[in-house]
Amino acid sequence: MASTRAMKRPAKGEIRVSSKTLIHISQGIYRSTASTLRELVSNAYDVDATEVVITTNPPRFDHVTCTDNGAGMTLDAFIGLMDGGIGDSGKRVGKGLTAKLRRPVIGRIGIGLLAVAQLSNAFEVWSHHRDTETAFHGTVTLHDRLSDEADQVDPDTTEILPMGEYDTARIPFDPKRTGTTIVVSDVKRGFTRKHAPPTEFHAPPTDFRQFLDRCFSERRISSLGHYWELLWGLAVQCPIPYLPEGPTGEPPALAAASKRLNKQGLRLVVDQLRLWKPGPWQRLDGSANRNIEAHMAPFELDKAVAGKPLKVSGYLYAQNEAIKPTERRGVLVRIRDVGIGGYDRGFLDYDRASEGPRAHWISGELYVEQGLENALNVDRDSFNEMHPHYLYLQEQLHETLLPLFRGMQSGQRKRRAREHREQEEQSIQRLLGAIKDVTNVSFSFETAADDTGRLVRVDRKRRKIYVDEGAEWPSGSATAELAKLIAVARAVADSEPRKHARKRDEVFLHLLREVL
Ligand SMILES: Nc1ncnc2c1ncn2[C@@H]1O[C@H](COP(=O)(O)OP(=O)(O)OP(=O)(O)O)[C@@H](O)[C@H]1O
Ligand SMILES: [Mg+2]
Repeated sequence: MASTRAMKRPAKGEIRVSSKTLIHISQGIYRSTASTLRELVSNAYDVDATEVVITTNPPRFDHVTCTDNGAGMTLDAFIGLMDGGIGDSGKRVGKGLTAKLRRPVIGRIGIGLLAVAQLSNAFEVWSHHRDTETAFHGTVTLHDRLSDEADQVDPDTTEILPMGEYDTARIPFDPKRTGTTIVVSDVKRGFTRKHAPPTEFHAPPTDFRQFLDRCFSERRISSLGHYWELLWGLAVQCPIPYLPEGPTGEPPALAAASKRLNKQGLRLVVDQLRLWKPGPWQRLDGSANRNIEAHMAPFELDKAVAGKPLKVSGYLYAQNEAIKPTERRGVLVRIRDVGIGGYDRGFLDYDRASEGPRAHWISGELYVEQGLENALNVDRDSFNEMHPHYLYLQEQLHETLLPLFRGMQSGQRKRRAREHREQEEQSIQRLLGAIKDVTNVSFSFETAADDTGRLVRVDRKRRKIYVDEGAEWPSGSATAELAKLIAVARAVADSEPRKHARKRDEVFLHLLREVL
């Protein structure tokens, strides 16, 4: 049943908005295709959809659809939106939780649906509304060159600005199709061109683990093409569950977020690939077998800042080599479980220069539970960096990063020293083995200087080789080590009986070959 309000409104007409700003916004504020489609997923999430299916028709990318199984929309609401409602979201009035699944509502402004305008000037909406058991079909056509035309409109004489046209028709309600479908059949050429490059198209696998494996084997996902970036972007930004359980299990710092996302249970499928959130424990290194040291630092923040609570929890994962792919380096801020843009490689403007390559070793996520939202720019991809909540989060993050980087630095030094010691030990053992081959004696080293004042002294009886560590060996630990080994080789050769001068040289050469 249509309400009286809807009856008064025409079922077709001009799309009207109350401000030039909205017209400019409709021309595109979202930075990436992933962010554009993320808005549609967020809208579905806000009406308790448990499944969203997006199709982009690869490899042609000439047709985009987004179907959800949420509560649907009434014709009345749709007309209200077209007739001055854009930019006036009523979603947060009340508790700010969704009706059925009590999810935190994402929508706030009333412009997310305009994201479709970034894909095309025309789109269609089909919606079957669960509660009223009504359904409609709507078509929307936006004027071309909107921004230019808007510039010419005198705001003193015009209250409502035309943005395009819409038309609607009621259709029979089908309970099996409860939810909303948005269809863009005339996709802008820019979108098609971007995703369907003239060169080779790498079709992604239909299994997400395989998809990730491929992404992690690349230095950058972008090298696989924009379509892969789109899939990655949606997986990273949308409020979907983590890919179940990796080899090391789920880190405790993430248990709450992971549980919540599982409970909210949004299934997101793009062109037959079911997307999951890639967790930090999932092969961040890009190689399964290497011996990588990793650890997770939890991040917690709960404080009133500028009179308003700011509550954030998350983790910073650090490993002792560069994280692949680059799109995963940095820190990802999530508000209401939605990723704000991608991972920020700058760590909210941390002074990375002093960290050198270590800045590539961290990947983290910060779940904002309260606050910060007022610092979010309307594109939902970036922040107002002067907002007190942003500034405080930034400061706290940097304070957490500093010891983490310092720890990584000393870990790196220790590891290098250990590797160096191991190498040294190996060369010593190799030399001792070779000495045994030629002399038939199992020597061991004695580093204490002996009283003869010799650099190296070979005591066959005691089976000891004395090396004067305190002597003035060439500087540099690797050089000094080599010099000592050569001196040992010479001393062992010289300990052969004097009459066999030639043999002594042969022994020396043999040992030298082992040492070098
Ligand atoms: N998939 C959908 N199912 C049901 N209703 C929808 C759907 N998508 C959009 N709507 C309706 O259209 C309105 C406009 O959506 P839009 O994304 O532009 O604004 P919003 O979600 O309220 O705020 P924001 O701009 O912050 O996303 C929504 O408030 C909602 O009522
Ligand atoms: Mg929205």
